[in-house]
Amino acid sequence: MSSHSLTEGLEATLQERLGRRESQGRLRQLHAPRTDLVDFSSNDYLSFSQDKDLRKAVIEHLTNFEEQQPPSPSNRRALGSGGSRLLDGNSEFVEYLEKKISSFHGSQSALLFNSAYDANVGLISCVPGEGDVIIYDDLIHASIHDGMKLSRATRKIPFAHSSILRNASRHSVEKPEMKNPAMRVIESLGLVLKQLTEMDQHIKGGSSNVFICVEALYSMDGDIADLEYVSAIVKSMLPKGNGYIIVDEAHSVGVLGDGGRGLVCQLGLQDQIWARVIGFGKAVGCAGGAILCSSVARLYLINYARTFIYTTAMSFPSLASINVAYDFLITGKADKRRNQLKLLVDYCHKRLKNLDQSLQPTVATLRVLGGPPCSPIIPLFTSYPKSLSQYCKRSGFMVRPIVAPTVPLGQERIRICIHATNTIEQIDNLCRAIEKWLSRFITRNHIEEMERGQTNVSMSAEFRDSLLENGKAKI
Ligand SMILES: Cc1ncc(COP(=O)(O)O)c(C=O)c1O
Repeated sequence: MSSHSLTEGLEATLQERLGRRESQGRLRQLHAPRTDLVDFSSNDYLSFSQDKDLRKAVIEHLTNFEEQQPPSPSNRRALGSGGSRLLDGNSEFVEYLEKKISSFHGSQSALLFNSAYDANVGLISCVPGEGDVIIYDDLIHASIHDGMKLSRATRKIPFAHSSILRNASRHSVEKPEMKNPAMRVIESLGLVLKQLTEMDQHIKGGSSNVFICVEALYSMDGDIADLEYVSAIVKSMLPKGNGYIIVDEAHSVGVLGDGGRGLVCQLGLQDQIWARVIGFGKAVGCAGGAILCSSVARLYLINYARTFIYTTAMSFPSLASINVAYDFLITGKADKRRNQLKLLVDYCHKRLKNLDQSLQPTVATLRVLGGPPCSPIIPLFTSYPKSLSQYCKRSGFMVRPIVAPTVPLGQERIRICIHATNTIEQIDNLCRAIEKWLSRFITRNHIEEMERGQTNVSMSAEFRDSLLENGKAKI
């Protein structure tokens, strides 16, 4: 420790930055997860991470690893891998697992990374080169942004998320948080591609490449990219074949497609998508990630992806867990869960729609999206996400508030994640808690009266919090 005290120098600067964050209500802190709450929050959509049969199978795998057929870990390491894949961390077992995964997803090859974050950063940072352009969904995950920061691509251009949704108006949108004078307009994917080919002769002529980055299933809205549209427009705007689509399937693997193979397989687009990033930390119930791509791309990544090269390879227990979880997917043991999940999602959405219709809250108070959800993620838009989430927690349900900058300002919400092992009763009780929160605290009149100071209503802590949350009341 330097001779500086905590009130000066770097420590003081850090403290000041943290204080600023805290005063904006955005300080991140670690909390031990509450096991007494019903999980409507985690990404463990198929409930794999708590599955007793899966755990038993992993333990057996770990215990008898020396006798395992096919291949036991050839280097006989029971725990850590011993180094980077390029040094001592490789094994027959990891290569066997990569083949198993790539074959399940209908890809020529797969390369494992320690996380899907690492996979995205590694891929995006090393593949696009000078003269190339990366076009990315405005709502793309932070890992793609971090990869782009390291990339030598000449330009990185966002396009409007709404322009690639099913039944979407394919138009440009104004970024809501960017108020005048310099409001930024995010163009649609079609327009971005059109302008690019008009402006850049290298792109038009096919000598420079365009990488188009999208997610399959977006974790904040639970919506799904129209990959058929993306593939078709890329083909038509870049007829020389220099458009390469990268799909992040971190949230869709296990959930979408036959057997949980993901959205690309569901749509039969394996040959149209240049690379897929899959994650094992969500529905697969483990941790880690992989890139599904051609054998040439795999070898390129082994040579250039720094998040692959300069890190210790996954431990054997991690590989064993992924192996066992994939056995569940491949053998169809997870199909019943997927079907159950779909039933529960539809049920929960219907209940929330009914609630919306019967109580008719203001848009700021609560908004449920119209159509039936296409994923286990149901966003409930509200200007009072912290209050609602707190109320749900007090009622026994873990539901998280999602606020800016994770989502754009004005699109705050709570995010309800349904899991295969949630029950109808749990969903009923959650909806009842939301209903109570709505009717007790957040009626339009209440808020308006409070804002105008025309009421003497004695406020409960929750109600006061909900007002303070938005800076709408000076109390
Ligand atoms: C879309 C998307 N891509 C990538 C990642 C990173 O996944 P992982 O947790 O495996 O690093 C996440 C997870 O937060 C994600 O939501």
